[in-house]
Amino acid sequence: MKIVVVGSGSIGSLYGAFLSRFENTEVILVGRNPHVSAIQSNGLKIKGILGDHVFKLKAMKYASEVDEADLVIVTTKTYDTVTAAKSAKHLIDAGASLLLIQNGLGTEELVAKALNTTKVLRATTCMSAIRTSPGVVTATGCGLTEIGSRYHENYELVETLSRMLKKVGFDVRTSENIEGVVWTKTLVNCGINPVGALTGLSNGEVYRNPALRGLIVRLVKEAVQVVEALGIELTTEDPVRYALGTAKATGDNINSMLQDLQAGKRTEIDAITGEVIRLAKQLGIETPSSEAVYVLVKALESKYLEEGGELAETDILEIDDLVEAITG
Ligand code: PAF
Repeated sequence: MKIVVVGSGSIGSLYGAFLSRFENTEVILVGRNPHVSAIQSNGLKIKGILGDHVFKLKAMKYASEVDEADLVIVTTKTYDTVTAAKSAKHLIDAGASLLLIQNGLGTEELVAKALNTTKVLRATTCMSAIRTSPGVVTATGCGLTEIGSRYHENYELVETLSRMLKKVGFDVRTSENIEGVVWTKTLVNCGINPVGALTGLSNGEVYRNPALRGLIVRLVKEAVQVVEALGIELTTEDPVRYALGTAKATGDNINSMLQDLQAGKRTEIDAITGEVIRLAKQLGIETPSSEAVYVLVKALESKYLEEGGELAETDILEIDDLVEAITG
C-alpha cells in the first residue's frame, strides 16, 4: 500500500513511521521545512515512550509532488483539513481513499463535499507526541486510536488499517458508530482543552483543582444537551466521568489547545467548543459556560497570533451575546 501523510507534524509523522514498518507499504511524509529537510538528510527520529527509532522515509513539501497513492492520511489541524485534502485532489480523483486523524467535529462532511468523494475515513487518537526538533518526534502518550467511516463502503479499508496499526503495536478499535466516537472525544476536548488553555495548567493540574473540575463538568454537560438533542449515541454512558478520567489519566499532558497558544498558533476551538455553540444555537439550547470559555480562548488566540485581532471576530456569537457570556 502506498500511503501519503499530509500535514506531517508530530502525530502524522508518528503514524506514518509505524505504518511504514508494515510489509509492502511505502509511506511518504508531506510537511514543512525544516522538519522535511531534516528527515530527507537524517531520517525521522522517534523517541519517548515508544522507544528510540530512526525511520528512513521519503519526505516532501507538497502533495502535488506525489504521483500515486492508495491512501492519503490528513493529520493537520482542523481548520487546514480541506486545504490539505485538496492539495492531494489528484490522488483522490485517481482512486485514493482519505483518512482524517484529528480532533473536532464536522471535518469528514466538509472534505467529502469539497472533493466530491465518499472514500473518507475518520479516526480519533489518544496518542500524543511533540516535535522536539526538526526531524525528531517524541511520543509522550500512548492511547487508543478509534477508526471508522460514515460511509459503509469503506469498511474493508477500516478493518485493514486497524489490523496494520495493531500489528505495529498501536491500541486500535474499529467502530461502526464513528459519529459517536468523534462526539465522545469532542466532549472530552470541550471540557479539558479550554480550561487548560486559559489557565496554562497541565491536565493533571486542572484535574486536581476542584473549581476547574467543576468547570469541566459544566462544559461537558452543556455539550451533552446538544448530543442528546441530535440523537447521537455516545460511546460512554457517563461523559462527565469520562472527561474527568481522561484529565486524570493524561495528567502530564499539556493539552493541544494550550500547546497551540504557547506556540503562537491558531487553536481548534472553532471545531470543538465553537461547533457545540453553533449547533446549540440552532437547537435553542443555552451554553453560557461554553460561550464564555470560547470568547476567552479566541481573545488569547488573537493576542498571540501575528495577524492581531482578526480571528477574535466570530460569526457564532453577536457582541451582545459575548458580553452576556462573560458577565453572565
Ligand atoms: O487535545 C488533547 O490534548 C487531547 O485530545 C486530550 C485527550 C485532551 C489530552 O490532552
